[in-house]
Amino acid sequence: MAILAPSILSADFMNISQQIRLVEIGGADWIHCDVMDGHFVPNITFGPVVVQAVRKTTKLPIDVHLMIEKPDLYLEDFINAGANYVSVHFEEVVHLNRTVNRIKELGAKAGVVINPATPVKALGDIAEYVDLILIMTVNPGFGGQKFISNSLRRIKEAVGLKEKLNADFLIEIDGGVNAETAKLAFDAGAEVFVAGSSIFKTDNISAATVEIKNSISQ
Ligand code: DX5
Ligand code: ZN
Repeated sequence: MAILAPSILSADFMNISQQIRLVEIGGADWIHCDVMDGHFVPNITFGPVVVQAVRKTTKLPIDVHLMIEKPDLYLEDFINAGANYVSVHFEEVVHLNRTVNRIKELGAKAGVVINPATPVKALGDIAEYVDLILIMTVNPGFGGQKFISNSLRRIKEAVGLKEKLNADFLIEIDGGVNAETAKLAFDAGAEVFVAGSSIFKTDNISAATVEIKNSISQ
């Protein structure tokens, strides 16, 4: 199963509804929302109000990636705004098991994200409790960066962890994803593909969506 989740970070916010329609036409499966606070990462994006607006314009699952300090304080706001998946960073959350449980209690699916320098094995004791593991394939904070080369090995390690635990979490990647890197990651075992600039910074958003979708469909 391959899920394509366009990230609206690179979309035209003045026309967000139309932009989401274009990725829907191209076969997008989820909509990925990148929330940044200028502290956990050196960039600021948007909060629950925008997620709520996205909710009104699409029936696709909304995948919220929290790149913020103290995400526990905002879980309820994002889930009330319509998030279906909420992912928090391993590097930020001290009581991760509690946070994962809280996300689930609030009615959403729970994800844990690791930065490129955080070992996959660090997830060994949380993986069986999560719905999703997100392996950053760039350093978080900005769109348009290059896919980090050891990501393929890290994806394979996540596949190994999943098999070892007999768990059913999805393996998601985020950053530098285009038709080429998506195919490599797909072959390594990734299941959810976040793509921002390779979709929204093109002349034909629907066609770019189709192209990436095709690259992960074989
Ligand atoms: C990076 C964000 C990504 C970003 C990916 O911090 O988490 O979701 O939108 O952008 P691209 O696809 O342009 O690398
Ligand atoms: Zn993201």
